[in-house]
Amino acid sequence: MTLRFKSRSSMDHSWLLFTLVICGVTIQSCIAVDRGNFKTCDQNAFCKRQRATQLGNSPWEILLDSLNSTINSLQVQVISSRSQARLQLQLIALADSTLHLQLDEINPIKLRYRSQESLSGSPQLSSLKILEQSSDSISLSFGGTGKAILLVKPFRLDVYDGDQLVISVNARGLLNFEHQRVRKSKLWEAMTSVAQTVGSVGSSLPGKAYSWVLQWLPWSSEAAATEANPSDPVEGLEQEEGEVKNPEEKPQEEEEPGLWEETFKSHVDSKPYGPTSVGVDISFPGSRHVYGIPEHADTFALKQTKNGDPYRLYNTDVFEYELYNPMALYGAVPFMIAKRQQGAVGVFWNNAAETYVDIEESSSGSVVSSLMNLVSGGGNEPHQQTHWFSESGIIDLYIMTGPTPKDVVRQYGSLTGTTPLPQRFALGYHQCRWNYNDQEDVHNVDKGFDLHDIPYDVLWLDIEHTDGKKYFTWDPIKFPDPLEMAQNLTAKGRKLVTIVDPHMKRDSSFFFHEHCEQNDFYVKDKDGKIYEGWCWPGSASYPDFFNPNVRDYWASRFALDKYEGTSLDVYTWNDMNEPSVFNGPEVTMPKDCLHYGGYEHRDVHNMYGMMVVEGTIRGQLMRSDYKLRPFVLSRSFFAGSQRFGAVWTGDNIADWEHLAIAVPMLLSLSVSGIPFCGADVGGFFNNPNSELLTRWYQAGAFQPFFRGHAHLHTKRREPWLFDEQTNKLIKSSIKQRYTYLPLWYTLFYEHEKTATPPMRPLWMEYPQDVETFSMDNQFLLGDSILVHPVVRSGETEVSVYFPGDNTLWYEIETYKVYQGSGYQTIPVAINKIPVFQRGGTIVPKKERARRASSLMAKDPYTLIVTLDKQGKAQGRLYVDDGQSLDYQKGSYLILELSMENHVLSSKISNQGAFETPELIEKIVIAGLNRSPSSIEDNTGRAVEYRYDTTSQVLVLRKPNLSVSKEWDVSLKM
Ligand code: GLC
Repeated sequence: MTLRFKSRSSMDHSWLLFTLVICGVTIQSCIAVDRGNFKTCDQNAFCKRQRATQLGNSPWEILLDSLNSTINSLQVQVISSRSQARLQLQLIALADSTLHLQLDEINPIKLRYRSQESLSGSPQLSSLKILEQSSDSISLSFGGTGKAILLVKPFRLDVYDGDQLVISVNARGLLNFEHQRVRKSKLWEAMTSVAQTVGSVGSSLPGKAYSWVLQWLPWSSEAAATEANPSDPVEGLEQEEGEVKNPEEKPQEEEEPGLWEETFKSHVDSKPYGPTSVGVDISFPGSRHVYGIPEHADTFALKQTKNGDPYRLYNTDVFEYELYNPMALYGAVPFMIAKRQQGAVGVFWNNAAETYVDIEESSSGSVVSSLMNLVSGGGNEPHQQTHWFSESGIIDLYIMTGPTPKDVVRQYGSLTGTTPLPQRFALGYHQCRWNYNDQEDVHNVDKGFDLHDIPYDVLWLDIEHTDGKKYFTWDPIKFPDPLEMAQNLTAKGRKLVTIVDPHMKRDSSFFFHEHCEQNDFYVKDKDGKIYEGWCWPGSASYPDFFNPNVRDYWASRFALDKYEGTSLDVYTWNDMNEPSVFNGPEVTMPKDCLHYGGYEHRDVHNMYGMMVVEGTIRGQLMRSDYKLRPFVLSRSFFAGSQRFGAVWTGDNIADWEHLAIAVPMLLSLSVSGIPFCGADVGGFFNNPNSELLTRWYQAGAFQPFFRGHAHLHTKRREPWLFDEQTNKLIKSSIKQRYTYLPLWYTLFYEHEKTATPPMRPLWMEYPQDVETFSMDNQFLLGDSILVHPVVRSGETEVSVYFPGDNTLWYEIETYKVYQGSGYQTIPVAINKIPVFQRGGTIVPKKERARRASSLMAKDPYTLIVTLDKQGKAQGRLYVDDGQSLDYQKGSYLILELSMENHVLSSKISNQGAFETPELIEKIVIAGLNRSPSSIEDNTGRAVEYRYDTTSQVLVLRKPNLSVSKEWDVSLKM
């Protein structure tokens, strides 16, 4: 059958089920996104308007008379010489070389939404000093060493690294701030009616009559609908009186299509506040590459968008997404790193409304380039110019001046937070499928892993486990005793995850729905009625997670006596939280829906998913009395989501291109603050053949979140259902993952402290190596492991790039040495992918195979020491109880490991803080050119060893050194 899969947005539920079945039969024929469901920039009025902003002709000027400053900030007004609209500009110096720029309307009709939820707290302030002021410019310093210049006419902000200009805001003059206005035609109609009623209308309405008219306008009815809410932002209406001085003149430009109403397919967006978009250009002199702004299925180094659509950030459930294009996906992080050879800078556009980013490289000689050169003194080097615009909200821009990539991610991490160290189990392997059908199925899958000696930590239950898609419930026939089922898993040290989506079935027998109705907890439509949309359960409503009471209620439902059938070993998957609405515009919620505080969905859309997860995380913390670390996987995300857990790249496809794209997509998330990320191993849609599945496990084993998952209508793919070789290879990849858990765990601890992601682009460690700047097929784990997944069918060799002049790279099984920097051809048989450990590092491992990570807790370690050319190496091991929050009170150990002058030693940075019986049972030292004559530890005890002359590898057997104590081991040469 070749029936194409009908898009989610236009189908009713029975059609959805029908098409799912059809597609189940011939899933091949169903693959391809229905682009018609999603707007292009041309179909999106604000995108078109912002893109049409005239280059190099900015009307915005600084009003020097209005300048005020404090020790941390300056405030000044900016005026448009065209419209006379005024904006308030604020520049705030923040700690760690960060500058914060805000631009907002002065006396807006309605307060614009300011996203606070993305931030992990109030950013720490630093000092801002005005160094010099003239009629043309204000030069200032921030944070001690930062330097910036504000240019007066037109307004521009230049930020320097030393003497080099690195960021320029509005250098191309694209600042476009659509100030709120009264819809003149509506007002004109309303006033005509006033005139008819009261008999006269003056050319300038008295204030009271004006207010009276205004109550007929759309925002006024919304204000009435939310009047019980003390934080109602509607205010300042009288300020706009000047707008209606001459109501008889009904200006045509106000009726331009898309300003006050917009239609897409059958959906009408009522836009009661009219045009409110904001945009400005940000140029990165000296930077030829920009990265970040996930989520897009595209190359890691972002592409030029001049000849197509800009990159779009609008959380949507894109069915069967296509690769290598700027279409929006499930999550949005408006953060970008710009990289030049000598440094890096970052910008965070803190706006949760629909956002676009255009990227254009200046070419020398172009109008824009000469403008930049003229105004900024930037050299002739091509550089990246970006243009950011959002549909509503304010311009809230954080500028991070690096200068290294690690500095930039730290600076961004200090604003939006880092991912707290997960429980150890979360870093193991997760087995998921839509769906494991019933308790017996769960039991058999679990048994299958044991029978085939494959470790795994978590079994996942998708939506079919619920009673009719009512989350927090269980299907009574298929899952009659979930507690017992979970106990069977947890008795072996494993965990269970259940899915809890945010669309609530509109079923009066469903307690959650009833509670939300009774307590006014649902998102409202534009008329103030409870919004209803279609999702998995059929008709559903959506809790308003922006209301703190809703999040409290949601969190309370995870208590063990409330969420029946769960235990402390049951964790959560929040899916469809963009939110996905099958019959909504672009498969999501209409933008004119209303949230707590009177804000429109338009203002907060990209943050909805994050707010769901915040509630879930808190629920898990509360149910364990804040003792255990929570675990939640989310599909939707925003800047700050990293504080709440893991994300994955949604519904990918079982084909080679999707395996390949996982690397740039996960790198993009990693550098944008979201390090705990993964892609469905095997591909969600479609059936992978054995080669593809094998290669996917081999790659996934080295990616942060490692979960196999598959669509309802794919063939079962538990590893043992494949041929013997495939089963064996998948098993060995999963086991390999488990051996590296101590490294993963240490890297995640370091991430929490420093914001550096465990999975890194090569340029994060080799920031000056241009060759690495647009690399999509390799990545690093920490600074020690280099991974080159095999992402093409039938590949027999790959070209691996080894970074670092004079750096040695050891193949992790044979210890064969390669030298950087440069490409080398590496043969690849099906049994493994190329993975190397850098010379100069010490990697902690645990090599005993177990059923689950919790059973490895007391197992001894193996240290892999790969020496650099000077015979030195360094590494770190982080150890704690693997699950509780005690580590936040200091209950952990950090072992600083180093080898120098033939002595390997362990120093503990916080001695006595945590006791563990764990030992070091084996040490491998690679790159030693001769055998020692003897080896002894610091107590004088001789250590057994074996040296292999061919591989130049020394193995110390059973040194049995304590992890809790400091020690050293000397090689007598
Ligand atoms: C969504 C998720 C997918 C899940 C399915 C059913 O498509 O992305 O992972 O299996 O919903 O819940």
